[in-house]
Amino acid sequence: MGLDFSVEQTPHPTSPERLAEILAVPGFGKHFTDHMVTVEWTPDSGWHNARVRPYGPLTLDPASHVFHYGQAIFEGFKAYRQPDGGIATFRPAFNGERFNRSAHRLALPELAVDDFVAASDRLVSQDAAWVPDSDDASLYLRPFMMATEVGLGVKPSGHVTFLVIASPAGPYFASGAKQVTIWLSEDYTRAAPGGTGAAKCGGNYAASLLAQQEGIANGCEQVLFLDAVERRWVEELGGMNLWFVQDDGTLVTPELTGTILEGGTRDALKTLAAELGHEVEERRVDIDEWRKGVDTGQITEVFACGTAAVIVPIGTLKWHGGEVSSPAETPVATKLRSALIDLQYGRTPDNHGWMHRVVEPGSGL
Ligand SMILES: Cc1ncc(COP(=O)(O)O)c(C=O)c1O
Repeated sequence: MGLDFSVEQTPHPTSPERLAEILAVPGFGKHFTDHMVTVEWTPDSGWHNARVRPYGPLTLDPASHVFHYGQAIFEGFKAYRQPDGGIATFRPAFNGERFNRSAHRLALPELAVDDFVAASDRLVSQDAAWVPDSDDASLYLRPFMMATEVGLGVKPSGHVTFLVIASPAGPYFASGAKQVTIWLSEDYTRAAPGGTGAAKCGGNYAASLLAQQEGIANGCEQVLFLDAVERRWVEELGGMNLWFVQDDGTLVTPELTGTILEGGTRDALKTLAAELGHEVEERRVDIDEWRKGVDTGQITEVFACGTAAVIVPIGTLKWHGGEVSSPAETPVATKLRSALIDLQYGRTPDNHGWMHRVVEPGSGL
């Protein structure tokens, strides 16, 4: 049986005027909707106390495990306003399954995928007015789970809290879909074999921030990580997977080695690219293949992909003492981006069963 949610409406809903102001320039992750979902877990009771409740601060004991040992995971996917006024999310079950793989790696309890999806659906329905209807805007959903047992013993938490919060989102990078500049991190790695690279846990992102700072100091927007063993194989950016377009039209993405996060966007693009007539290869990519390929013209485009930013063409790759730039024209990235967002915004038919209807048109929401 699925979770049974109680609902407590906020006594202070955002005024329609303020909401219109927020949705006009949502930014990314700056504003949060009026409600949130919380669910608790203990070994004896399993998942219980599922609530849709007013968005607001949590009261947690300072000795809660999560503050000390980082036993926490998260997800990210989006709800899109459809042409008929309804709302749909993109492949929430993919994220639910990935969430469980992350939970397993972090010794957190799994949550049934149906409950994961239902929790997000409840929040989207509750705060449906927060789903923007402008181009390129959406409602970003952030489910997360953390260790809330109190005590300093290092062990899997005996009390866990699952939450979903939501935030209206405009374009992720200030520069929109323009080419971005990437910093090659040579001193720091993100994930090692046997580690947590394939899990979406907070620690991976904490560990990427120093490299990110170095990248920003060198005029770059994002950081590229190489494998931790040979420091040679291209893995991914701090928050996005990578693709290369070869001069023969083949699309190449680094294969999943256990140290790369399996992106939902990456997965969808494999299908869409094949449908658009491209060969798709998942294999290891040497950093020198990137550097030389761009120089010789064997690689015609490089782009990154992820839920927040969709597809972002990469212009320049920089490292200590050097850089290479890809051509300014990015027809394949542009074509794939359109194919994906047209599907997400319901402008083209969903032939893959990827869209999950949450709110029907005319439901008064
Ligand atoms: C490290 C990392 N790689 C890749 C991705 C892209 O994954 P997705 O396409 O599911 O957003 C993300 C974002 O979730 C990420 O954090």
